[in-house]
Amino acid sequence: MRKGRLAAKRVSESAMITYRLMMPTDANIAGNVFGGSIMKYMDEIAGIVASRHAATNVVTASIDRMNFYAPVYIGDLLILKAAVNFVGTTSMEVGVRIEAQDTRTGRSVRTGSCYLTYVALDSKGRPTPVPKLLLETAEEKLRFRQASIRRKLRDEERSAIEKL
Ligand SMILES: CC(C)(COP(=O)(O)OP(=O)(O)OC[C@H]1O[C@@H](n2cnc3c(N)ncnc32)[C@H](O)[C@@H]1OP(=O)(O)O)[C@@H](O)C(=O)NCCC(=O)NCCS
Repeated sequence: MRKGRLAAKRVSESAMITYRLMMPTDANIAGNVFGGSIMKYMDEIAGIVASRHAATNVVTASIDRMNFYAPVYIGDLLILKAAVNFVGTTSMEVGVRIEAQDTRTGRSVRTGSCYLTYVALDSKGRPTPVPKLLLETAEEKLRFRQASIRRKLRDEERSAIEKL
């Protein structure tokens, strides 16, 4: 467990955008991009964002609300935009927005989004506190409020199931 008060951090200090060219190795049997490939890239970028915020090792605790709005094609440029939406004590929700760009036309389509929760771990592998979030924009404040509702729903679902 980290001692002392951690300095709060801006969302922009850890937010990231990454680009990946969709290759034949990303394909499903229909020849489009496999959803599992996209999920791997999402977990990768969201995990980096969470560890940049926490400044420590993190693990994926849960992944929810994975929405696929439109197919992604081989040859598309996948654009993943990720930022911390919410922090609890040791956990963080990271939101990822996915776009696919046809590089021949420059046209981008929003193809997916997801919310992932990471827990920061200390050197002994135990959950450890993360910095609070400094919310600067109206959008960041809205995302924080939306994520707080998701967090409450997740907690309620888990405790209801554990009681059975
Ligand atoms: C995630 C993990 C560290 C939580 O451990 P734990 O003993 O349940 O920890 P706690 O009960 O003290 O909870 C710690 C935080 O995790 C959150 N949390 C625990 N399980 C969660 C879940 N399934 N979804 C979302 N948040 C979760 C808690 O709400 C708490 O958040 P807070 O500190 O912000 O209030 C533990 O379940 C774990 O190691 N899981 C495996 C992670 C992993 O290996 N991921 C890679 C996939 S192979």
